[in-house]
Amino acid sequence: MVTLTRDRNITTILPHGGELIQRELAGEQKKAWIEKASTLKALTLNAWSISDLELIAIGAFSPLTGFMGREDYHRVVEEMRLSNGLVWSIPITLPVSENEAEELEIGSSVALYGEDNQLYGVLELQEKFEYDKEKEAKLVYGTTDEAHPGVKRVYEKGNVYLAGPIYLLNRPNHDDFKEFYLDPTETRKMFADLGWKTVVGFQTRNPVHRAHEYIQKSALESVDGLLLNPLVGETKADDIPADVRMESYQVILKNYYPKDRARLVIYPAAMRYAGPREAILHATVRKNYGCTHFIVGRDHAGVGDYYGTYEAQELISEYEQELGIQIFKFEHAFYCQKCENMATAKTCPHDKSSHVHLSGTKVREKLRNGEQLPKQFSRPEVAEVLIKGMQEV
Ligand code: ADX
Repeated sequence: MVTLTRDRNITTILPHGGELIQRELAGEQKKAWIEKASTLKALTLNAWSISDLELIAIGAFSPLTGFMGREDYHRVVEEMRLSNGLVWSIPITLPVSENEAEELEIGSSVALYGEDNQLYGVLELQEKFEYDKEKEAKLVYGTTDEAHPGVKRVYEKGNVYLAGPIYLLNRPNHDDFKEFYLDPTETRKMFADLGWKTVVGFQTRNPVHRAHEYIQKSALESVDGLLLNPLVGETKADDIPADVRMESYQVILKNYYPKDRARLVIYPAAMRYAGPREAILHATVRKNYGCTHFIVGRDHAGVGDYYGTYEAQELISEYEQELGIQIFKFEHAFYCQKCENMATAKTCPHDKSSHVHLSGTKVREKLRNGEQLPKQFSRPEVAEVLIKGMQEV
């Protein structure tokens, strides 16, 4: 067994389960495990699993200390709870092929490598189990349709889950966004240093458009700070690449947000597109990063027409009390030409013909053609970064 250091909690909100998990090894222990790794059976993980490994180790997925075993897995899929009863909405598992699983012995340690042949961590293998993909798709994603990008991944992945506690030996490389990489211990400290007692977390996989800005700033009227926390792990191919988005976030923060009220930090996770259930995961993780509040707007983490516009809000409302992070729920926001303002149906009396609306597909098409976006939809500085970025893709 190894001893792990745990940092004290600095902010007002406790991590999920009460303790910020730390599974990263340092110093002598790290050295010893790196040496030992060469004698262990090796397993190559894809980028998605490496990012899960990292998120467990840095405490973003607290209270998880490893990849889920059978009992946690089934209860999460069926009841959205860990086996100890704590709310958890999405299974965090390590899929491998049957052949890979056969090679590995329960009770052994397995060295975890990335596709870049770099050693990232170790798994103490406690269980191997098969699972029902259709059931997982249906219950977690709400559909068995393979056209759903999250479901597609479920069908593509290995048929066996490996489970057990992990240790992280090397963090994945985030050099491109180095300045914006903080782990939950560090964000908690940053909030304390900034004197923020209340912080609203904002998840996004898109550039910040006017609707995002509107709901962020509406929330910011009631709390001390905003954590702009874009997901930069794997997304579907037609989403705007993370490096282009990161540049656009910096531009909008610099030009339109008060310096001491907003911070940009990456969320190095893969996007599941699981709508309502992913909204709960997103909120749970931001609680671990130290956010006291979290924004759930229209069709949070949705894709296509799989989820109702406010389904994520409805589901998270049932768990809000238990989660302990307060949810700011916003209706669909738009620019109204008659109000000459950003608004929602709650604040605007005019009909749709006065509202500026652009679909994601339309936006991408315009950007690829080098066309400016209406300034009621996107800040011009943001559009410029996107046009440049999308033409280079
Ligand atoms: S997500 O997959 O990361 O949820 P996106 O980046 O589009 O996608 O959304 C980030 C957050 O903003 C989510 O909470 C989403 O519900 C919210 N949101 C996006 N667009 C709007 C809008 N027009 N009105 C209200 N909320 C929105």
